[in-house]
Amino acid sequence: MAKQLFTAGTINGVLFNNRAMVAPMTRISASETGVPGEIVQHYYASFARGGFGAVISEGLYVDQAWSQTYAFQPGIVTEEQVAGWRKVVKAVQQDGARFIAQLIHGGALSQANIYRDTTVAPSAVQPVGQQLGFYHGQGAYSLPQAMNSDQIAAAIDAFAASAERAVKQAGFDGVEIHAANGYLLDQFLTDYTNQRTDRWGGDIAARLSLTLEVIKAVRARIGADVILGVRISQGKVNDFHHKWKEGKAGAATVFALLQAAGVDYIHVTEYQAWQPAFSDGQQTFADIAREAAPDTVLVVNGGLDNGELAEAQLAACADFVAIGKAALANHDWPTRVAQGETLRALPDNVLSPVASIKQSEI
Ligand SMILES: Cc1cc2nc3c(=O)[nH]c(=O)nc-3n(C[C@H](O)[C@H](O)[C@H](O)COP(=O)(O)O)c2cc1C
Repeated sequence: MAKQLFTAGTINGVLFNNRAMVAPMTRISASETGVPGEIVQHYYASFARGGFGAVISEGLYVDQAWSQTYAFQPGIVTEEQVAGWRKVVKAVQQDGARFIAQLIHGGALSQANIYRDTTVAPSAVQPVGQQLGFYHGQGAYSLPQAMNSDQIAAAIDAFAASAERAVKQAGFDGVEIHAANGYLLDQFLTDYTNQRTDRWGGDIAARLSLTLEVIKAVRARIGADVILGVRISQGKVNDFHHKWKEGKAGAATVFALLQAAGVDYIHVTEYQAWQPAFSDGQQTFADIAREAAPDTVLVVNGGLDNGELAEAQLAACADFVAIGKAALANHDWPTRVAQGETLRALPDNVLSPVASIKQSEI
């Protein structure tokens, strides 16, 4: 069947009404202790009412150690956090969308954490760039401590335990491991932030091994039937234009290893999904993923602001598309696209879910 925005699709046997997903977006709108409340519930449910087949949550932190990344970020660790999510999940599902929990460990990019005042990373390398001001950060990132084996094992277990809580207690339809955008798992994958000489460092396959171990541990806890995805990027929030020095061959290795690890979907994100991934070739990052992981569902994100751009990715290689900022401006993006209605311009203030709900009048 031709993949088009408004045809149904499946991931690991789970039916999705259409191919439009809301991309994961941190909203820093939980309580100080990471509990999502009514605003968060209303915010997420409005995307379901607006016709999205699925919503991927913002990154939820996974432990009471070093994973929290931003102030007022929600977690999926404490009973209160899980109970908060249970209500949000119910509201989204009642309004007809699938809901996937994104799990994050901030590593060296953590700029606020109620549990720790230090940061950890693969190696003691200070992140490039500046903390994100729109998430209340200021100035340079802290110098992280290099993680020891026990801390790495604990982080793997935190992802797995959080995945189990997300699915079995909060009721999410699946989980997405955040291995993109510069956070802990991407710090292991990235050559200049991972200088380890043990099994977690070395070539690109070795640097991916923490992500692969997390996938294995999560799968063991959630079972074969629950959706498990992974998000991968070259760019980072603190190093937007970063390109993998291993080029296409390195990317192909990463995607093939992720497929072999048994993820149900790979979610690739680039600034503009249709641009060549590397300067010495024409293939997009998504094309390379499609070629190297032909049996895995592919979710594509990045600048797909309107129906034409989204359909072009589905025609080229994507199974699903994830819409970020255009969804903030149009919580009813799928309905508008389906009906040929004008889309609202991208929002100036991407921070506030309240502003985003208001702008969309959902
Ligand atoms: C306000 C905001 C928060 C974001 N938070 C996350 C996040 O928690 N996890 C993640 O993987 N990406 C996050 N992103 C990146 C988006 O998922 C997406 O990759 C990016 O906005 C590009 O897609 P777009 O052009 O459709 O907006 C965020 C983006 C925005 C604008």
